[in-house]
Amino acid sequence: MKDGRFLTLGIETSCDETAASVVADGRFAMSNVISSQIDIHTAYGGVVPEIASRKHLERINDVIGKALDDAGVSAGEIDLIGVTYGPGLVGALLIGVAAAKAMAYACDIPLVGVNHMHGHIAANYLEHQELEPPFMALIVSGGHTEIVNVPEYNKCEKLGGTRDDAAGEAFDKVARVIGLGYPGGPKIDRAAKEGDRESIAFKRVYLEQGSLDFSFSGLKTQALNYLNQERQAGREINVNNVAASFQEAVVEVIADKAVMATEKYGQKRIVMAGGVASNSRLRALMEEKAGRKGIDVLKPSPVLCTDNGAMIASAAYYAYRSGAKPDLELDAVPGLEF
Ligand code: KG4
Ligand code: ZN
Repeated sequence: MKDGRFLTLGIETSCDETAASVVADGRFAMSNVISSQIDIHTAYGGVVPEIASRKHLERINDVIGKALDDAGVSAGEIDLIGVTYGPGLVGALLIGVAAAKAMAYACDIPLVGVNHMHGHIAANYLEHQELEPPFMALIVSGGHTEIVNVPEYNKCEKLGGTRDDAAGEAFDKVARVIGLGYPGGPKIDRAAKEGDRESIAFKRVYLEQGSLDFSFSGLKTQALNYLNQERQAGREINVNNVAASFQEAVVEVIADKAVMATEKYGQKRIVMAGGVASNSRLRALMEEKAGRKGIDVLKPSPVLCTDNGAMIASAAYYAYRSGAKPDLELDAVPGLEF
């Protein structure tokens, strides 16, 4: 405790960000340290799991130390530690879990494990101080594309998800083949601003009537076939047009389904979360489509959309308050479900 405020240290190492943050009362980030490995993995065109865990190991102590320093608190003032224990890369998760357990044991602080996806949703509690359940959530990241009903704190009901590739994964793969490099999402977003989104007729995959699931692998194949065909015909590829048309086909379906789910469940608000939630076209389309139905769209700022420790601290705070038992035996669960 400090000045009467409950302090949670959040630790995140599920993929390629080593991150830690101190959050007061589950809502206010006093620090938010993110050490990204993107530059290292760029050389390989994607995250290399073995390299990711080594880098987490090298950086984790400094990142936690800096999160405490930036917040101006000592380890003794921390009331709760929350750490991502899944889903994610097993070797990467283990580094965060081991560091959290060691600190919890040495300093006698309760430790709770946090589902990374619950963390993404909780990013909105940091950004929007007035936000309370119930609401609908759209999680769009490198590994997930999910529509989730949040009836109360620490309760998530998955209504639909991708049957193959996640949205971010599709962005990253198409970006690679059109030569934009890794990570593809932000690069496609940027290139698309200069392109014509109606120039190439990529298909919109809605699946069965009323389905809240997604499928992006067919669209990805269609984009690859288009590129091959154009190259074989000796035509020059307009990267900006491919980016804009592909992006439109992905985000239009996501926005339609997210709004459909919010209406169907009688919710008035939908929160966006995950790396792809910082896509400028998805943000605009969500506003447009939800606005027509009188639904509010809440978005975290880009720094809280991508992986960070603050969202994990906030989710841990609400899990603990809702009765989650502290667990020093915590283990990484790479395939953790909602
Ligand atoms: O949530 P996140 O940081 O990590 C995961 O948990 O996956 O999401 C990373 C994903 C990557 O696929 C990246 O390309 C994508 O988010 N991304 C974007 C944008 N910024 C990041 N995709 C589309 N537009 C963006 N502006
Ligand atoms: Zn994530």
